[in-house]
Amino acid sequence: MNQKDKQAMSGGIARIGEYSDELHAENLDDIQVGEYGYKYRTIEGVVLPPYVTPDRYAMSRSIAARPNDVCYGSFPKSGSTWLSNVLYLILNNGEVPEDKTLRSCLHWMESSWPYPRSREEVDTLPSPRIFKSHMPYHMALAGGPEQSPCKYIYIARNPKDVCVSYFHFESNKAWSGGYSGPWEHWLKIFMEGRVQRGDWFDHVLSWWKHKDAENMLFLKYEDMKRDFDAQLLAIAAYLGYALSEEVIDRIKLATSFSKMKTEQFSNHKEIAQLEGFFRKGEIGSWKDQFTVAQSEAFDRFYRERMAGTGLDFEFE
Ligand code: PPS
Repeated sequence: MNQKDKQAMSGGIARIGEYSDELHAENLDDIQVGEYGYKYRTIEGVVLPPYVTPDRYAMSRSIAARPNDVCYGSFPKSGSTWLSNVLYLILNNGEVPEDKTLRSCLHWMESSWPYPRSREEVDTLPSPRIFKSHMPYHMALAGGPEQSPCKYIYIARNPKDVCVSYFHFESNKAWSGGYSGPWEHWLKIFMEGRVQRGDWFDHVLSWWKHKDAENMLFLKYEDMKRDFDAQLLAIAAYLGYALSEEVIDRIKLATSFSKMKTEQFSNHKEIAQLEGFFRKGEIGSWKDQFTVAQSEAFDRFYRERMAGTGLDFEFE
């Protein structure tokens, strides 16, 4: 970790310095400001947060991937942190460490904050390494499943819950671009593919098209909620791990919403600006936000965009 990102130590856990464009966004000249002060940068036509810099993106594409690397990804707010905890614990016998945090164990190469890693740093780390990414398929870490030997896992969630979770999480945050608009406007730019990471449909469908690749596993948040055990076993089998009953129980407990929200390993408390990350953790919380008219319009749009794809989501 970069020294400038370490502020203080508490119980052996490093507190992470706050995000600022000056420290973390690098080329400030190519940052654009949209409606309601929403800052972003565009790379290869995709709207991205300022902390995804061209240099870091280029590095993320060309890391030296290993066959036992695990690369998980998603559109933001799709349950990727939950998945990352499951992955970490599968690879580590279900044992929750006391001296580190989940985020510090993951490598998010496209991002300059909160844990910027250099290529040299990840090159020297022992296997198996866990990489995080929020990129669409054509911008995938290490070139994506067709070019890289590592194991990819993508998790998707119904777009109404994603849209609401994203609105609450990103509003008025320096690191996310300082968006300050109302819900109606957020919903509009989400449907137009103008939020950071681009169009939800393009993103999810870009990975869905490759779901049958040998080194690819496509998951849904709703399946994890409905039948966690089956999904856990499927992920473990895909990664080549046989889990004992004891390890299954440990993973199940440690990755429950309430545990993740409170345990030092997973609660994100070392990153003050991620306050409120563990919001609801449910299927269907969109109902508290969408009006009936918004919901009906979204459903029509969803049906048009998903027609013929073979992919569908549960919304409640
Ligand atoms: S991020 O910031 O893009 O990486 O967010 P991501 O981790 O992909 O998604 C955040 C949402 O996942 C919920 N969450 C969980 N749901 C169920 N079980 C567990 N253990 C869990 N952990 C996180 C989190 O609360 C966000 O959803 P919302 O709807 O906002 O609660």
